[in-house]
Amino acid sequence: MKKIFVNGYGTIGSRLSKFIKDDPEVEVVGVGKYSPDDKVTDAIARGFNIFVPKNKIDGFKDYKITGTIEEAISKSDLVIDASPAGLGYLNKKTLYEPMNVKAIFQGGESVTGEKMVSDLLFNSRVNYDDAFEKRYVMQGSCNVTGLGRILQPLKEKFGSSILRFDATLLRRWADLEDTKIEVKDTVEWTPKPHHGDDVKSYMGKDTPLYIRVFKVPSRQMHVHLMDIRFKNTAPRPSEILDVFRNEYGVAILYNANGTKDVRSFAESLKFSFKDTNMIHIHADLLEAAGDTVKLTYSDDQTGIVVPENHLLMQAMIFKRTRDDAIKHTEELFHVNEKKKLLEQHFCQK
Ligand SMILES: NC(=O)c1ccc[n+]([C@@H]2O[C@H](COP(=O)([O-])OP(=O)(O)OC[C@H]3O[C@@H](n4cnc5c(N)ncnc54)[C@H](OP(=O)(O)O)[C@@H]3O)[C@@H](O)[C@H]2O)c1
Repeated sequence: MKKIFVNGYGTIGSRLSKFIKDDPEVEVVGVGKYSPDDKVTDAIARGFNIFVPKNKIDGFKDYKITGTIEEAISKSDLVIDASPAGLGYLNKKTLYEPMNVKAIFQGGESVTGEKMVSDLLFNSRVNYDDAFEKRYVMQGSCNVTGLGRILQPLKEKFGSSILRFDATLLRRWADLEDTKIEVKDTVEWTPKPHHGDDVKSYMGKDTPLYIRVFKVPSRQMHVHLMDIRFKNTAPRPSEILDVFRNEYGVAILYNANGTKDVRSFAESLKFSFKDTNMIHIHADLLEAAGDTVKLTYSDDQTGIVVPENHLLMQAMIFKRTRDDAIKHTEELFHVNEKKKLLEQHFCQK
């Protein structure tokens, strides 16, 4: 059985380890913790072995620790790195490469420049098979993953009749669990956002995508406002919705009054971590006027990348086909069932 170590137990790492632990095809060696806090108790209660940096081990004397980060990596076939943005690169250089272990990195890293962690930014809808032979792959961030789920089906359906995509991303300030982060009463802009280059790294450099990014005072979800310009008259809204009806991890919702409405529904149905694990097209905001379609969707920042990591893990260690990988991911995440429940609740009236 293949052995997986989840290095980092924050927002993403705690979700990844919880789901992957239920996968009968792999064994979770344990999780990496760097601070001796309540989350150590949480991870132990969930049945995980805890591994910590050798130079911090004394700080963990009040907890039952299994070993060092190096010991965990030496037992593993693949590490899923869930460290804060930028530290994945350091881990690759100091741990994964010297110890010759495969690794998946998260969206805060980079696939270009001096600190690139891989030459492949993964999006299961676009380049699933490209991960088969790779030792190091970066999973796109939540926004970058959501953008691929919208752009690729549109590109396949309408091809060169699309002139350009202009997207404005409204990013949530902090995650629900980030209670130590104060949500400030301001709208911040992000100069030189990474999202456009990240998307182009897997959709092609010539993708006519133009992005602006703002951070808004909310903890719920991201919202993307996308204008799609066509060479001629734009397709009708119903034609656009038809493109997405059977897309994996894309729900079509009506009558939601905001991102919290969607998150609260997920909470009321006890979806794990209050996540929907997908993007949601808000169909009552969809418009076509002249040559332009105006599309709005929300993106579950904490949930969307977790099943994606599970698909990527299967590509890297089992070289399984995408269809088979989705079937297996479904057994753990039930994305299709969640989509159905969301679409039934937020239906057209
Ligand atoms: N949050 C999101 O919604 C989201 C969505 C998509 C992608 N991402 C990406 O996922 C990555 C992780 O984000 P996050 O939100 O989960 O961060 P987070 O909540 O701050 O958690 C980071 C975790 O990494 C641990 N850590 C600290 N130093 C480390 C090291 N050197 N090596 C490995 N782990 C280390 C921390 O441990 P201690 O707490 O013990 O110090 C903490 O458990 C980032 O690249 C981020 O951009 C985040």
